[in-house]
Amino acid sequence: MEPKWWQKAVIYEIYTKSFKDSDGDGLGDLFGVIEKLPYLKELGIDCIWFTPIYPSPQVDNGYDVADYEDIEPAYGGMTAFKELLEKAHALGIRVVMDLVLNHSSDECRWFKESQSSRDDPKRDWYIWRSPREDGSEPNNWANKFNDGSGSAWTFDEKTGEYYLHNYAVKMPELNWESRGLREEVYRVIRGWLDMGVDGFRLDVITKLKKPPFVDSPKKPNPFGYVLDNEIQSCNPGLHEIIKELRENTWGLPQYDAFAVGEAGGVTEKNAEEFLSPKRGELETLYHFQIVSRNRPTVTLKAYKEIQDNWGQIFNRGSWTTEHLSNHDQARQVSRFGNDSSKYRKPSAKCLAMMTHVFPGTPFVYQGEEIGMTNVYFDSIDDYNDRYTLGDYAAAIRDGMTPEDALRKVRINSRDHARTPMQWDASENAGFTVPGARPWIKVNPNYREINVSSDRASSDSLFAFY
Ligand code: GLC
Repeated sequence: MEPKWWQKAVIYEIYTKSFKDSDGDGLGDLFGVIEKLPYLKELGIDCIWFTPIYPSPQVDNGYDVADYEDIEPAYGGMTAFKELLEKAHALGIRVVMDLVLNHSSDECRWFKESQSSRDDPKRDWYIWRSPREDGSEPNNWANKFNDGSGSAWTFDEKTGEYYLHNYAVKMPELNWESRGLREEVYRVIRGWLDMGVDGFRLDVITKLKKPPFVDSPKKPNPFGYVLDNEIQSCNPGLHEIIKELRENTWGLPQYDAFAVGEAGGVTEKNAEEFLSPKRGELETLYHFQIVSRNRPTVTLKAYKEIQDNWGQIFNRGSWTTEHLSNHDQARQVSRFGNDSSKYRKPSAKCLAMMTHVFPGTPFVYQGEEIGMTNVYFDSIDDYNDRYTLGDYAAAIRDGMTPEDALRKVRINSRDHARTPMQWDASENAGFTVPGARPWIKVNPNYREINVSSDRASSDSLFAFY
């Protein structure tokens, strides 16, 4: 069978906020991306995946969506997006959007309506539960970002119920049991497809089906809550949700689009339940057996085993992806390679080759193509990542010294990957306009590691990519 376009593509992930700032507000934006399209074309990529660029209060850098039908004004709004789509397509580069369907921002119109009264027609678009008899949270679940009290529930005074938020307090979970929510989401997604978007990356898609709302039996953290990741993914009923979602959106015959699921909890053992073409669920996904955030690295032996296991699924018509880092992970050359001046380039090349020779669609994360490395800031104030800040606050509450807490949380901070793209050796790595201040500090090694110095060298990583 002739391969589909997304099976032949190299996908480049853009974290817009950190890619290129065109107007000096310190935030990357879509006009900055437009300026760099020729760079991406020369790199040889076929498709861009944008992490969420919808209007957002930026509690989680866009993964808290306030309006699913618009583009963040600070990124240039819809005008910039339409221009970008047209120019990218003219260069033969496709565009994939991130869809955050597990939760929204509490500033989303949907949530405000849902919160307005118990009888609001959108009440069941989110997950509301009564307090226990003593007034406490409906169960003992913790939120992942250690936000607020640490509980996954926040009490709403006005309507006297708790709402569920498995990430941050300002990121309420959507309720996929609601027919009204489903129909609205399908309509919104078709709008993006009709505009010409080529596909979607589905954020935490394996969590749309919730487990029963009962206490986790695991040992609580010092604040009395339990972070039980296992119970949140791949619950019975999930497949029905994904199948219906696809049937009503990118799977419709008038579109030539695909979806890649962020698939926590999926291994080679249950992957085909999502990927087998006869299931009609996901075209592809990425799993966490190699890059799980809390595992510092993997041995070569483990890597080979994982690749061997996943290799089997291609024989039966399923398709998967290859990546060693993204916006949630440490920089791959620092984590799996060696970022010393002697070995940085050869090890970055080795990792690139591993990503591109195995079967599956390769994903490249911005800056990987010049071997950008991890960063270790000396003050917690220089960090932005919600995990880092929440874990730091919890460590302090638990009695750790500020120095120890910082040392602990910066190891796995997602900010390793989120510092501005290093374009050249000028002030702030050429990320923003002279004199402006980036939203997060640049990695101090930008004078040596940047696009222009890499490309000037005879053993350029860019050229290898
Ligand atoms: C995904 C995203 C991550 C985000 C989380 C909650 O894992 O990749 O950046 O924080 O979902 O939306």
